[in-house]
Amino acid sequence: MADLSGLTALITGAGGGIGAAMAETFAAAGARLALVDIVDCGGLAARLGEGHRSDLLDLLTPRPSRGPSRRSAGTAASTS
Ligand SMILES: NC(=O)c1ccc[n+]([C@@H]2O[C@H](COP(=O)([O-])OP(=O)(O)OC[C@H]3O[C@@H](n4cnc5c(N)ncnc54)[C@H](O)[C@@H]3O)[C@@H](O)[C@H]2O)c1
Repeated sequence: MADLSGLTALITGAGGGIGAAMAETFAAAGARLALVDIVDCGGLAARLGEGHRSDLLDLLTPRPSRGPSRRSAGTAASTS
């Protein structure tokens, strides 16, 4: 796989089989990870090393638009 150093990968469904496998593969390639799922992925994020984050997020729950995002690129939406 290509060197993903300096890039952030947003991985949905990271608590499951394919998502977790993608997280491990992308982390091994050097990516920083933003893991989201309806189950807690904090343990996976910690196990894969420093600099990763996880957030609880239900992708099927509609959210009101807050207009253009002011978040910096590479961050995941938080449920808090
Ligand atoms: N495993 C396979 O061989 C395979 C093959 C083809 C397609 N798929 C499809 O790929 C997808 C993932 O497969 P998998 O084997 O990794 O499944 P999985 O059940 O192991 O993982 C799915 C993950 O998605 C999370 N999730 C479910 N609903 C969610 C929501 N609303 N918001 C956020 N996260 C949510 C679950 O908590 C779980 O951690 C499924 O749709 C599956 O049908 C899987």
